[in-house]
Amino acid sequence: MSVVTVEKNEAISIIAINRPEKRNAINNEVAKALQHAFLDFERSEERVAILTGTGGRAFSAGADITDLPELWRAVPGVGFEAKKPIIAAVSGWCMGGGLVLAMMCDLLVAGESAKFSYPEAKIGITGGMIASLAARIPHKIAMEIMLLAEPIGARRAYEAGLVNRIVADGCERDEALLLARKMAALAPLALSTLKRLVVEHVLPAGPSELAARFGAELAALRASEDAAEGIRAFRERREPRYKGR
Ligand code: ACO
Repeated sequence: MSVVTVEKNEAISIIAINRPEKRNAINNEVAKALQHAFLDFERSEERVAILTGTGGRAFSAGADITDLPELWRAVPGVGFEAKKPIIAAVSGWCMGGGLVLAMMCDLLVAGESAKFSYPEAKIGITGGMIASLAARIPHKIAMEIMLLAEPIGARRAYEAGLVNRIVADGCERDEALLLARKMAALAPLALSTLKRLVVEHVLPAGPSELAARFGAELAALRASEDAAEGIRAFRERREPRYKGR
């Protein structure tokens, strides 16, 4: 069974973390599978993605503490170019890296029992990506989540502007589908332009987000055919033949 499932529903891709027995904790396999699923979605004809978790107990319990992932791979706009709208459908726990993924989506639907928490300070680590939360909800509430490491419920998250809709538990996906269908009927170019204006020119990106984004870009350049060709040509004392890839 795949750790990430993708279901196509008309013009909508439903991408789900599928490790319910581990509360959808994100290990290396999940981070890579999410990255691939979203890269496929961006290349596809689908217009809107829903990011969710299976099992109902957790959207995600965050980074897998026993197999810490390269979380950035799964983060919209960091591990993949996220031009099209993404809606998070959250039930149960939305913790740590799971909260990072959810906050980077464009809209968020939560079940009434959903709980949002950032417990990194309890285990003495931080990847720093959560700093961007302070650009998305009021500063004091973002700091409360990070510095107290205590969960907040769906109602408080809604009041803070982290959540667009609260629905009865179990109805998150249906509500997200409803919103996705409305978006899918609108003009895709207008939607992606609006999203790009906000993400690239209005929302500030935190230092970890920038480091991961540029780190990924530089790693791709280092792994390119042209980089290998340049080094080969130097060794063989000839002019390089670059292909732009
Ligand atoms: N990493 C690895 N395994 C995890 C994680 C995680 N983040 N979260 C849960 N699991 C595993 C548990 O070890 C357990 O495995 P087991 O059945 O093999 O013993 C299984 O998932 C179920 O977990 P329970 O704790 O039994 O589930 P419960 O529903 O009672 O509690 C909760 C869920 C609150 C999410 C709890 O598991 C928890 O606090 N997890 C840790 C979450 C955490 O600290 N995340 C932040 C990581 S740092 C970051 O994301 C950047």
